[in-house]
Amino acid sequence: MKVLLTGGAGQLGQALRQHVPAGIELIATNRSGDPATGLLPLDLADADACRAAVRQHRPDWVLNAGAYTAVDKAESEPELALAVNAGAPRAFAEALRETGGRLLQLSTDFVFNGRQGSPYLPEQPRDPLGVYGATKAQGEEAVEELLAVAAGGEGSGQGVILRTSWVMGPVGKNFALTMLRLQRERGASGQSLGVVADQVGCPTSTATLAAACWRVMAAMDTHDGLPAVLHWSDAGAASWYDVAVAVGQLGLELGLLERAAHVKPIPTSEYPTPAQRPSYSLLDCTATREALNLPPTHWRQALRQLLEAVR
Ligand SMILES: NC(=O)c1ccc[n+]([C@@H]2O[C@H](COP(=O)([O-])OP(=O)(O)OC[C@H]3O[C@@H](n4cnc5c(N)ncnc54)[C@H](OP(=O)(O)O)[C@@H]3O)[C@@H](O)[C@H]2O)c1
Repeated sequence: MKVLLTGGAGQLGQALRQHVPAGIELIATNRSGDPATGLLPLDLADADACRAAVRQHRPDWVLNAGAYTAVDKAESEPELALAVNAGAPRAFAEALRETGGRLLQLSTDFVFNGRQGSPYLPEQPRDPLGVYGATKAQGEEAVEELLAVAAGGEGSGQGVILRTSWVMGPVGKNFALTMLRLQRERGASGQSLGVVADQVGCPTSTATLAAACWRVMAAMDTHDGLPAVLHWSDAGAASWYDVAVAVGQLGLELGLLERAAHVKPIPTSEYPTPAQRPSYSLLDCTATREALNLPPTHWRQALRQLLEAVR
């Protein structure tokens, strides 16, 4: 099976490339390519290039893990965010209609407004709060429109949308690694660390997410019974504050920190950001876990494994 991967140098992309199942021919890409690591260049902001890559390689799957993920910066670069997050999946979908391959489109809990106060089911309506979420939502819509996926419906044709949340891995730019650095700096200087405690979601490790992505493709290729929209996060729920505290505790346990900082819970109003974020964006992953037959890992366990990989 031939898979064209985008975002190959991103945190999920790297995890996907680390654990490629047997029998997969992987064509991995990133924006400018990297001969040293075998990445081919593919600019997701260039719709013609996205269509051409599908026509050239004729993959069985496009795994679109690349995205404009800078949530706050997207507020001032909406055109670029739209081109990458919605233009690229649309272009892939258009070309895949010709070639017959499938698309696995990664998406986000930020397509929801977070106001309902209970976990979101895959079929619930999108209502993003910021530019990043809005452009990812438009990417989902393009996949649904062109590859005949009906949200929550059975039999997803050529397109599958996999939403996830709070992605963190041992490499790249993410909250866990930022907290580890801040814990180290503030712990050493005796300063405390204020972290938002009134936004709740669930961390997801790149390792468990990559396994879920590969499982989706295998499951779709052996039986066409997966729902069209899937939700995958690690198990449990947490605030950013909870994750920051856990990074300190686990960092000490694993010998990554000599001293942890005192973490102070603060409200969102004390940490204003350009983009508004959902206050409760937990994804209900029950149906996906059953469909993929993949047991969940609690986020704290997955975080421990992530930090062990940093050592
Ligand atoms: N991170 C999260 O918390 C989170 C949460 C929910 C869902 N997701 C979704 O999960 C997926 C994977 O996210 P991630 O955390 O692995 O993201 P990431 O680490 O930020 O990686 C995204 C990759 O996309 C690439 N990219 C951006 N613009 C591009 C362009 N114009 N052309 C080609 N490549 C481009 C980036 O390459 P450069 O390094 O060259 O810019 C980067 O390597 C994305 O679809 C994201 O929306 C992420």
